Amino acid sequence: MNTNNLKNIAIEHLWMNSKSWLQSNKENGPRIIIDAKGIYVTDSEGNTFIDCNGGYSSVNLGYGRPEIAQVVKEQLNAISYFPQGSTTEPLIRLVEKLASMTPGNLNRIYPVTGGSEANETAIKIARGYHSRRGDKGKYKIISREGSYHGATGGVMWLGSPDKVSEFGVPYPGMVYVSQPNPLSNKYENESSYDNAVRCANEVERMILYHSPKTIAAVIAEPIVSQLPDQAVSPPNIIYWEMLRDICNKYGVLLIVDEVVCGFGRTGKWFGIDHFGITPDIMTVAKGVVSCYVPLGAVIVSEDIADAYVGSENLFRQALTFGGHPAAAAAALKNIEIIEKENLVNNAAEVGKYFLNRLNDLKSKHNMIGDIGGIGLMLGLSLINNDSVSKNINTNFSDKLKSKLIREGLLLRTNGKTIHFGPPICINKNQVDEIITKLDKVLFELEQE
Ligand SMILES: Cc1ncc(COP(=O)(O)O)c(C=O)c1O
Repeated sequence: MNTNNLKNIAIEHLWMNSKSWLQSNKENGPRIIIDAKGIYVTDSEGNTFIDCNGGYSSVNLGYGRPEIAQVVKEQLNAISYFPQGSTTEPLIRLVEKLASMTPGNLNRIYPVTGGSEANETAIKIARGYHSRRGDKGKYKIISREGSYHGATGGVMWLGSPDKVSEFGVPYPGMVYVSQPNPLSNKYENESSYDNAVRCANEVERMILYHSPKTIAAVIAEPIVSQLPDQAVSPPNIIYWEMLRDICNKYGVLLIVDEVVCGFGRTGKWFGIDHFGITPDIMTVAKGVVSCYVPLGAVIVSEDIADAYVGSENLFRQALTFGGHPAAAAAALKNIEIIEKENLVNNAAEVGKYFLNRLNDLKSKHNMIGDIGGIGLMLGLSLINNDSVSKNINTNFSDKLKSKLIREGLLLRTNGKTIHFGPPICINKNQVDEIITKLDKVLFELEQE
């Protein structure tokens, strides 16, 4: 492989996620991954790294499982697509499987091709549900400040609208509430319970302020996976119990975004399993197929889906690639392996170990602030003391990243936080390897 040639072509023509071609040019071209197995990836120059964030917290199973490649190959050889108005066996088997895994009567599954599409679809289903029942004014969607639910036309306005303000007039009906976050130091000395109650009460206040006649749904991740300045911190269980009750009280649908939390990431199959409530709609992507091929799904309760029955009453949406048989076959195999290899328990157990090891690091490094997480969705903040926070700027962030890369760690950091979402097949020795390397980098930064 002529790496330089490929890199030049990428600089000339490729528009990557979260990276401009100018930046790529400065770095002599993007990193080209040519091999990957488990948590390790190798680039075209022969460097091997640990992918501490498993793609985009999405390669749950780990890289390079030949069983998945095999079923995709077999499926494409058997039947590669389907005529309009028909379907295929792997998709039927997949929706049966998903219905059996999800809580309550979440039994009707609409397949899509990723997380953004899943959330767009969930919002449409929620609005259409109310409209079909005669509540045409119920269109507003409540989301939590700082959350991310996708990048497309509607969902990009959820959670963090400032980041997308250049893209035009905000989507109508977006309502924002506070993020429950026990680590937030905005309200000093607030307990995790009080934090949860205050934030849930705010949802009710907002519903009343806007009038329940205008609110279609609340959308939230069970445990928020990425806040730009904070470590991961699950809310107190009371938050979700209250949210469920509030939504019931005012006829507001509860949409749970399991795009990151789902499929073992948090040490249970779904993030919401930690809280014992059943949402009206659940969205999944990423881990459902560990990113071997594109797939997402909207999992809807029977009551909501039943608003869409009858030939005059169809859900007006057709996504050509939704429910592709190769993606369905890959997802089925992915779930089968996660089950067989007990990887959800592994995420819980190794996640606890990882958290303990991060706490060991904290006792050695003054620059570490909060540490938090659940299962293999972990984060730490680097804003412990004022002198450190003042020094955290782009320069620091670049230095941190380049030292981590030199040590062979690819991970998500903006210089203020470091997030970890490794493949859930990671073992304790591999966690030790990450901690040793991180320890070295933080020590060097402190020396400098
Ligand atoms: C919580 C959450 N929801 C939705 C999305 C969007 O998913 P996708 O990138 O597959 O469109 C993401 C992506 O990172 C996410 O983190």
